[in-house]
Amino acid sequence: MAFPESFIQELKMRNSITEVVAPYVSLKRNGRNMVGLCPFHGEKTPSFNIYDENTDNAHFYCFGCGVGGDVISFVMRIENLDYVDAVKLLAQRAGMDLPETGYDDSMSRLRKRIFEANREAARFYYKSLYQPVGREGLNYLHGRMLTDRTIRHFGLGFADDDWSSLTKHLKSLGFSEHELVAANLAVQRRSGNGVFDRFTNRVMFPIIDLRGNVIAFGGRIMTDQKPKYLNTSDTPVFKKSENLFSLNNAKNAGTRTLLLCEGYMDVIAVSQAGFSNAVATLGTALTQEQAMLMKRYADEVIICYDADEAGQKATSRAIPILRGAGLPVRVLTIPNGKDPDEFIKSQGADGPEAFRAIIEKSGNDMDYRLQKLRGDYDLETSDGKVQYLEAASAVIATLDSAIEQDVYAAKLCREFGVDKNAFMTQLQKRSKRRSREAYRRQQQKLRKDLSGRGDRINIDKARVPRSSSAEEALVVYLIRNPDAAPFIAAQVKPEQFQNALMRRFYTYFSERVQSGADPMLNVTADFTPDEANILYQIIGKHASIAQTRQSLEEYIKVIREESVKLRQDEVSGMSGEDLNAYLEKLRKVKQ
Ligand code: CTP
Ligand code: MN
Repeated sequence: MAFPESFIQELKMRNSITEVVAPYVSLKRNGRNMVGLCPFHGEKTPSFNIYDENTDNAHFYCFGCGVGGDVISFVMRIENLDYVDAVKLLAQRAGMDLPETGYDDSMSRLRKRIFEANREAARFYYKSLYQPVGREGLNYLHGRMLTDRTIRHFGLGFADDDWSSLTKHLKSLGFSEHELVAANLAVQRRSGNGVFDRFTNRVMFPIIDLRGNVIAFGGRIMTDQKPKYLNTSDTPVFKKSENLFSLNNAKNAGTRTLLLCEGYMDVIAVSQAGFSNAVATLGTALTQEQAMLMKRYADEVIICYDADEAGQKATSRAIPILRGAGLPVRVLTIPNGKDPDEFIKSQGADGPEAFRAIIEKSGNDMDYRLQKLRGDYDLETSDGKVQYLEAASAVIATLDSAIEQDVYAAKLCREFGVDKNAFMTQLQKRSKRRSREAYRRQQQKLRKDLSGRGDRINIDKARVPRSSSAEEALVVYLIRNPDAAPFIAAQVKPEQFQNALMRRFYTYFSERVQSGADPMLNVTADFTPDEANILYQIIGKHASIAQTRQSLEEYIKVIREESVKLRQDEVSGMSGEDLNAYLEKLRKVKQ
């Protein structure tokens, strides 16, 4: 049991989902719903809906990305909180006291302990840097031209060569081995006996979230050994695909432009040169989640990746992701194949000025892509020119705005002396095809998610979609028509469900509605976020479908028929006699 349901009921009553969402999404009323641009994926036309008619089941659902939930799951997602902390935040918002006991906050407690352990670890690493044991680390950072002020500002540190110094220290402060392993500050010994430090002999970079919690570390080795950087693995407080290094600083930089760098050292060097609006991904390619996070603090992103081939590839991959999140993009070109850190250093005292100059020169992403593309064609020949223009029109077709398309097309046509009308006709064809394809892909993905195929939760995926859509529909019917529950329960047993998750939903809602409880009130507590999201997806999918008594009969019939069917592999291994008996049974159910 999480919180008492009466408490959750009051919490939902006092926190209108529309008001909670409003600071993050600009909403407009559209009939009975509110709609806006989804804060969880990039989009140009609103598919994020809020259904707020009935407080117990007030919820949101995005038809674009298939994310949905109640007011609590909205806060969990947007603020990156666990269930208990999201409830606490909403209680505080509404001025409600929390129940003293009766709820399980062990996860929340563990998360808190991890934050505390990380904070103490960061302190310990920082202190070590200025002790004899940390001499090598401090020399390394000074050698990379970092000042003590910068080191302090970023809380850099040193993990020494001893495999137990941090573990010993944190244990002396009362942290358990379990907590240290959960924080990924220590690793369990293979023998199962005790733990050892995760990071040794590295300079340490703490990663800090927007609330000032130390959530993870990166550690750099001071030699050429591999791996160069070692990072905290995902923990209950850290997902590397959803965080950015130094966003805690950048969001206070007083500008709505962010500089996106490849690594820790780039961010720090750029910041020391006076640009505190720099962030970096954490050793992985940029994700949509990170782009959406940037979007909350920025109106523009300048990609400052390395000038080498890997950096350029990463730039090409990052552009559509940032664009997709609705962020205009510029691309920095760093001379002489350097990264921002090396470039600034190479300019000596002029580093900051020189960096400002290349930022000011940075062109937008379209200029960058068209320029890059030129390298692939021989523009001295007519063939080369035609091929380049073909390729360029494909690139321009990726722009969503017709005005933008027109500007680039005009520029190109002028330069190459080609007829703009012909070029535009081709461009529009491509553009239409592209948006049709994108729409189809999105619909396909949504359908796939909905049917539960390719889904980790659906362990019974060998079974077929015919039953799964009937099962989904029956679950939705039950939620919408609590009065029908006794009748349905008499017709369909949970065992007759093929999909394990639908079976659990069915059992759960049958019990709730038959005991008079509000079906949806506590879904966010009683299921995992992924499971609850699937539930909101199937509800969303049926939102515009009327379910009659007749369709109910049909769902029941399909579920019963499918439940006696055996899987292909089971049938093929049968003796003739068993097979006959089985066919007989099938015939009976059909009648
Ligand atoms: N990275 C990582 N693991 C590695 C190598 C790199 O996590 N084995 C991540 C780090 O976040 C690093 C970023 O990728 O900051 C960029 O890597 P790279 O360009 O190799 O390093 P630099 O940032 O140039 O670091 P340095 O200047 O210290 O060599
Ligand atoms: Mn570097």
